This record gives sequence, C-alpha cells and structure tokens, in this order.
Amino acid sequence: MQIKNPNNIFRRFIFNDNSVMCNKFNKNIIILGIESSCDDTSIAVSKNNDILSNIVADQKVHKKYGGVVPELASREHQKNIIPTLALALKEAQVKINEIDGIAFTRGPGLMGSLLVGASFAKSLSIALSKPLIEINHMEAHVLANFIDHHPNFPFICLTVSGGHTQLVLVKDVQTIQLLGETLDDSAGETFDKCAKLLGLNYPGGPEIEKEAISGDETKFKFTTPKVDGLNFSFSGLKTNIRRVIENNLKTDENFISKYKKDLCASIQYTIIHILMEKLKIAIETYNIKNIAISGGVAANEKFRSQIKLLETQQNCRVLIPKKEYSTDNGAMIAIAGYYKYQSQQFTKLSTDVKPRYRLNTYIK
Ligand SMILES: Nc1ncnc2c1ncn2[C@@H]1O[C@H](COP(=O)(O)OP(=O)(O)OP(=O)(O)O)[C@@H](O)[C@H]1O
Ligand SMILES: [Mg+2]
Repeated sequence: MQIKNPNNIFRRFIFNDNSVMCNKFNKNIIILGIESSCDDTSIAVSKNNDILSNIVADQKVHKKYGGVVPELASREHQKNIIPTLALALKEAQVKINEIDGIAFTRGPGLMGSLLVGASFAKSLSIALSKPLIEINHMEAHVLANFIDHHPNFPFICLTVSGGHTQLVLVKDVQTIQLLGETLDDSAGETFDKCAKLLGLNYPGGPEIEKEAISGDETKFKFTTPKVDGLNFSFSGLKTNIRRVIENNLKTDENFISKYKKDLCASIQYTIIHILMEKLKIAIETYNIKNIAISGGVAANEKFRSQIKLLETQQNCRVLIPKKEYSTDNGAMIAIAGYYKYQSQQFTKLSTDVKPRYRLNTYIK
C-alpha cells in the first residue's frame, strides 16, 4: 500500500530495539496498540516491553473551532486509521501476521472516535485470529511510564490530560487506585479554554507554554481553589481569568495583545502551582517517594522541571515519560496490552466501547 501524507499529518519517532524477553511464553510478544479516544489516531507496535514504532496522525481540522468537534474527529479517524497502521507496521518492520495481540482503547473518550478504533481492532482480531485486548485510556496514560523505565512500586502518578486530572496510587501494573481527581474542569481543559480567551489556537497548552517563555509569571495573581483532600478544581480559576481579561478590556481594548505573554506565564504558573501543591500533599499523606506524571500536560517543560525538583526538595525518585508518550499515543496502549497479554486477559468481540470508563471500576 502506498502511504499518502498530503498534509504532513503523521508524526513518527525513531526507535532502537532494546526489548527484553522476560515473559513466561519464552518468545517475543508483539502487540499492536490502537488509540482513537479523542482527536489523535495513533497506532504503535511493541515487542515485549519495547516500542518498535509509534505513529500519530494529527487532526488539524479542529483548530479553527477552538476544540474537538466529535463528528469530525470520528470521520478523520476513519480516514487515517488504515494508513496509520500501514506506516506503523512498516516502521516496526513487522508483518501483520506476526502480531500476537491487538490492544485498543475501550474508553474513556468520544463515542464515535472510540467506535472507529474498536471496530477496526475487532476486524483485525477476526481476520488474523489473534486475541483482542481492551484498554482503559487513563490506565494506559499511567503505564506510559513503563516505556523505557522500570518503576519501583508503589508509586504515585499525577495524570494531567485534556479530560482528566487524577492522582493515582500504582501498586503494580494491574492495581491502580484513584486517590483524587478534579471535581470539575481538568488542568488541560483550563489551558485550552484560557488559550481560546486569548485568541490562541487549539490545543491551548502548547500555545500558552510558547507565549509564557518570555512572560512575567508574577504579573497577574489568580485565585487558587480551596479543595479538601486530594481532589482538584479548576473552574473557579478559569472564571477568575475570564473576569480579569473582561474587566481590563473595558478600559484598554489592547489589553490582551499588550499582556498576552504575561497572562500566559501567570496562567501556566497558577495551574502548575495547584498541581504541585496537591502532589506534595499526596507524597506526605502516603509517604511514597516514587513519583510519576502522565497525560498531555506532562509535555509542559515548566511542569516537568517542577516535578524534577522533587528529587532534591523531597528526596523523590521521579519518572517523566518522553513527550511523545505524554499526549495520546498508541505506544501506551501497546504497553498496557503487553501486560494484559501476559496475564491472558483477553476481550470478547461483543465488548462495547465505554465513553465514561472510570479508572476505579477497573481495579482488579
Ligand atoms: N506543552 C503543553 N503544556 C500544557 N498543556 C499541554 C501541552 N501539550 C499538551 N497539553 C494539553 O494536554 C491536553 C491533551 O492531552 P491528552 O492528549 O492526554 O488528553 P486527551 O486524551 O484529550 O484527554 P484524556 O486523556 O483525559 O481523555 C490538552 O488539553 C493540551 O492543551
Ligand atoms: Mg489522553
């Protein structure tokens, strides 16, 4: 098959084969990981605990709407999924009949987007007579930390993505316990909504990060929520930021263009401050010094450097996934699939997708 890439939609990564064959099957296990929960079509090929290819097809179609349009997302998945698979197999130098299992995202996510990935995975499973493995997307974000790393158990992971902000306790690869989560908006959503207020493109996180580099993070003081325990809240902050912008625009119509960089730096500072404060409470409460992060916001340099500081400030062992494994990717689905393959946790063809797939309903 010829692979067309007309709009340069594919992101690809270079890999070395460092796989370790440490499984009871005494053979290499090759897993296909299919991710289609939101607006990225991504397929990866793993061999044991190593990633051989990880192809991500971007969906630029949403940019002008300032957020993901679900119907457009599923149509783009349909268009991209076969070329993405072809490229993933080619880069991995793996033939389709060499695959041992097909892992796919069952949820949470957009119904239409999930259906495309799940139907595709089921068709492959039937055609190749290979087992199907359902994956919880939020669990996969956490397990992205197992790519290139060997985490010590137990560890605390802070997942900060477009739809979730969660603190979890990872006791082993199959026991992931929810400690706290956002009561309203997620941190990623807050980046996206603030970016929209400032006239920046979607997704807003990377746009705000770019502008923030040369901004003054102390210029604006935004509210931080008072939420008990290990839960988060971001809706009050979002409202506060909107009010500050609207009030200032009444007296200065150029307020946004004049202060865009400072606003971005201050917004970024506040979101990261909220995340770090909760993470520190979790470290203290559970007295656990192994820390990991995951999700799209984990690609943020400022956040990564604050997490890194925990090594010296709190004597923590810190795991930070590569940026390509922080935002949505097939590699994390493949790795999660590899662990489920080892315990032979296979999925029936009749299994439906689960747009609201809660992490804590998944604990075994
Ligand atoms: N460099 C960055 N700085 C801050 N935020 C970022 C950065 N890169 C991506 N993000 C944010 O990460 C989010 C996307 O992350 P991810 O792909 O994990 O989310 P999702 O899959 O849409 O949601 P979920 O995983 O909760 O279902 C977006 O909100 C985006 O703005
Ligand atoms: Mg995600």
